[in-house]
Amino acid sequence: MARVFGSFALLVLAFSIANATDHSPLQDFCVADTNAQVLVNGFACKNPSSVQASDFFFSGLHMMANTSNRLGFGAKLVSVTQLPGLNTLGISMARVDYAPWGINPPHTHPRATEILTVLEGCLEVGFITSNPENRHITKVLYKGDVFVFPVNLIHYQRNAGNTNAVAIAALSSQNPGVNPIPNVVFGSNPDISTDILAKAFQTTDDVVSNIQFKF
Ligand SMILES: *[C@@H]1O[C@H](CO)[C@@H](O)[C@H](O)[C@H]1NC(C)=O
Repeated sequence: MARVFGSFALLVLAFSIANATDHSPLQDFCVADTNAQVLVNGFACKNPSSVQASDFFFSGLHMMANTSNRLGFGAKLVSVTQLPGLNTLGISMARVDYAPWGINPPHTHPRATEILTVLEGCLEVGFITSNPENRHITKVLYKGDVFVFPVNLIHYQRNAGNTNAVAIAALSSQNPGVNPIPNVVFGSNPDISTDILAKAFQTTDDVVSNIQFKF
């Protein structure tokens, strides 16, 4: 029994080390005080005695995100900004909607691993491992399927069907962040020099300017 418990404790320890992205909280909670003047990593805590149930609550994920855009894709993020009780807890979530054949373009979350569950429809998903392998790991998912995108790796989804698709994502940060590759590369402010991108992508300045113009 003691040995079983010992192995269990070790397993728990291993998982807590491997999975914790944001720092572990040092108290029951630290509801974000978004008006605080003090700057810390995350938000300062509200006085615990003034905390309400509404600080731990969000409503609205029964409503689909707007997918009427050129990508056919929309997401509703519930991070510390929408739900102040998430401050210091290292977790957040999102509802993701896809019009038929809509895409969530290649992007990274600099601070979070993402675990995605398909609620409706069929999604083609994938991520790319880092250099030098750049292995493309991809799979087609159906209702009830779960897929994980490891922290910081470039990943994407496409609705591979003629009906709407919807998924719920959990993310291992109160503030996962997002870097859509097309936007950060071709739509930075100010632009990266066209000739730098032309050389990097082995193409001409014209092709790069044309893409930059669209972002
Ligand atoms: C969805 O987004 C489009 C494009 O921004 C906008 O024109 C439309 O009004 C939005 N629809 C809803 C229901 O908010």
